[in-house]
Amino acid sequence: MSDKTNIILNINGRDHAISVESRRTLADAIREECGQTGTHIGCEHGVCGACTVLVNGEPVRSCLMFAQQAAGKPIRTVEGLAKGDEMHPMQRAFMENHGLQCGFCTPGFLMLAVGVLEREPEISDENLIDVLSSNLCRCTGYQNIIKAVRAAAIEMRQS
Ligand code: FES
Ligand code: FES
Repeated sequence: MSDKTNIILNINGRDHAISVESRRTLADAIREECGQTGTHIGCEHGVCGACTVLVNGEPVRSCLMFAQQAAGKPIRTVEGLAKGDEMHPMQRAFMENHGLQCGFCTPGFLMLAVGVLEREPEISDENLIDVLSSNLCRCTGYQNIIKAVRAAAIEMRQS
């Protein structure tokens, strides 16, 4: 007997009807069942932030959430940031400020930063850095990530 449950994950405005076991993580469901592989999985226990997506507008570590907990809620992943050929200001800022090298951590940083700035556009620089310190990057030394997010924050406040 299968203990799978049929759920719908709404990712970037599109419904995905999938069948998952109760212990299936949101990260795995997004990647495997829904085919959205832009969300990366690093540590799988809530430490690195590579798997960060937005659920109901809030950044969450999708390796720590069960897929069933996100059923019916709006989920946003890195695939939903660009509008057609036009990159999101956060994506552009990462590119222009060399905020990535291997890129493994980048989707998580992008979603974390976008989620926080959408919720709190006037966040102080100190708090912004505090938030960004929750995600790990093994390549960049963080300075260019911080530069990129600061640049995007200015643009997002003006738009
Ligand atoms: S893979 Fe989820 S926090 Fe590292
Ligand atoms: S760019 Fe390689 S881990 Fe961050």
